Amino acid sequence: MFNSGFDANEGFFACVPQSGDVILFDAFIHASVHEGMRLSRAGRKIKFEHNSVEDLERILSELLSDEKVRKGERNVFVAVESLYSMDGDLCPLKDIVDLVERILLSGNGHIIVDEAHSNGIYGFQGRGIVCSLGLEDKIFARLHTFGKAIGCNGGEFQSYIHGLVLTHQAAILCSPLTREYLINYARPLIYTTAMSFPSLAAIKVVYALMNNGTTESVRPPSIVLNFTEYLTPSS
Ligand SMILES: Cc1ncc(COP(=O)(O)O)c(C=O)c1O
Repeated sequence: MFNSGFDANEGFFACVPQSGDVILFDAFIHASVHEGMRLSRAGRKIKFEHNSVEDLERILSELLSDEKVRKGERNVFVAVESLYSMDGDLCPLKDIVDLVERILLSGNGHIIVDEAHSNGIYGFQGRGIVCSLGLEDKIFARLHTFGKAIGCNGGEFQSYIHGLVLTHQAAILCSPLTREYLINYARPLIYTTAMSFPSLAAIKVVYALMNNGTTESVRPPSIVLNFTEYLTPSS
């Protein structure tokens, strides 16, 4: 758990990719990922055209000329958003997962999905797009923020009372090993005061409402419809 989605992305991208690793990022990726990449030791940070599986394939294929990438001695991280904040369009996530698996045969391709805009609203009980596509096991890490659909922006509530503005909170969903690594090396997590108990309690309440189906009735039907079409494309 981080104090904000910004902290989570910054902390993750600054510390997880190691020296010599490569980060490929969608052209429309959020500023917080750029911030993390600026601090990262990764050897190369390469932009691919927004939502273009073709452009990503071109870059991945070129990377194979690097023997260390080919042999799996160098990791390739791919940063995408499931629903983009810039244009509100959905990522071709399944195609990206298939592509990375097909090209990086040593299993050194790692996809990171920012679900800031899908968490709480897309998929079964608002669990996000990765979950609704059944891709949990194929995604290296997911960012779920709590300040948007989840509404746990303690700041607004407190601002009426005390004139304070607090940051939002967020979670990175990942393997236990990555979690341990983040706890030890992600600076925006270690070198700041932990979130308050009311923040945690608010998040817990919203998740209880999502799990028991209460929030289903307030989900806009257009979103459910658009998403169903996305899951079952006609072509
Ligand atoms: C795609 C995306 N990722 C991350 C963030 C940062 O999340 P937070 O507002 O919790 O800092 C935002 C916006 O705020 C966003 O739009």
